[in-house]
Amino acid sequence: MRVLSGVQPSGKIHLGNYFGAMKHHIELQKKNEALYFIADYHALTSIQDKNQLKKNILDVAMDYLALGLDPKKTIFFKHSDVPQVTELAWILTTITPMGLLERCHSYKDKIANAINPNHGIFAYPVLMAADILIYNSELVPVGKDQKQHIEVTRDIAVKFNNIYEEIFTVPKEYIMQQYAVVPGIDGQKMSKSYGNTIDIFAAENEIRKKVMSIVTDCAALNEPKDPDKCNLFALFALFASEDEKNEVAQGYRKGGLGYKVVKDKLFNNIINHFKPYREKRLYYENNKKEVLDILFDGAVKAQAIAQETMEKVRDAVGIKL
Ligand code: ADP
Ligand code: TRP
Repeated sequence: MRVLSGVQPSGKIHLGNYFGAMKHHIELQKKNEALYFIADYHALTSIQDKNQLKKNILDVAMDYLALGLDPKKTIFFKHSDVPQVTELAWILTTITPMGLLERCHSYKDKIANAINPNHGIFAYPVLMAADILIYNSELVPVGKDQKQHIEVTRDIAVKFNNIYEEIFTVPKEYIMQQYAVVPGIDGQKMSKSYGNTIDIFAAENEIRKKVMSIVTDCAALNEPKDPDKCNLFALFALFASEDEKNEVAQGYRKGGLGYKVVKDKLFNNIINHFKPYREKRLYYENNKKEVLDILFDGAVKAQAIAQETMEKVRDAVGIKL
């Protein structure tokens, strides 16, 4: 199956990004033909600082490679290295009803919060449809927040196929809804915008500080506690083996197990889990040229697929003479 997803170069990655998205992307590459790209064209709708954007792009590339994205197996590239998507986005925009875009949460949220959105934010779902359709993607693993954009993509694909020719594969529903939402250190969803993240490649003392500040209730040490209502336990469970999880859950229910002990265990598990990835990340930091070469190779492969689709599209709509 051809799997495709895009990731915004939006800064440092945290446990929520890893368990909610990146880990699954990396697993999916094993049994599928995967294409993953860094959505830098999309990022321009919100980042207008040249140096910041460049840094973020390189950072997310190194993050993915360090976490196990295999560039020999997976096509990994930078969105803007395949400018054919912007041509397709224009063609799709001519068949996309305004109402479809006006109903998109990403745009409506901005209006509701009195943020004056640029046209890029409004048109974003069309570019996303082009990203997906140009590679004939079958499966698009994204988080819940992107569900509506996949529905828009499906609508646009069906409409194009009906008006012109059956060129586009209609992608399957998103799949990452089945994965749990990772809580932040304050118990809300972990998110950069809430400032409650544990960043996976942060310095060890920074991670320790964050883990020690995970908010817990103020039950006394000997009081029994419910592990299923504790965000510390939810974070702990992401890393623990079944035995470790059962042991700590029992300690919660019996009483007598202090939160500090669980935090120490969680800290050690985080450090051990990411140790090999951290080393690999350091390798790429010292070999940035290798990262650029990987993205370049990926772009060449992605362009070949995109070019083939665009030839069919240009012919179908009547601009190829
Ligand atoms: P943030 O909320 O920090 O800005 P993004 O929206 O950039 O995170 O996240 C990129 C992807 O990572 C999301 O679409 C989602 O799939 C996943 N993700 C982010 N935060 C979490 C979380 N707390 N739990 C599960 N998945 C998450
Ligand atoms: N909009 C996605 C996000 O914010 C990123 C993205 C851009 C994407 N184009 C895509 C995801 C195509 C899947 C497929 O997370």
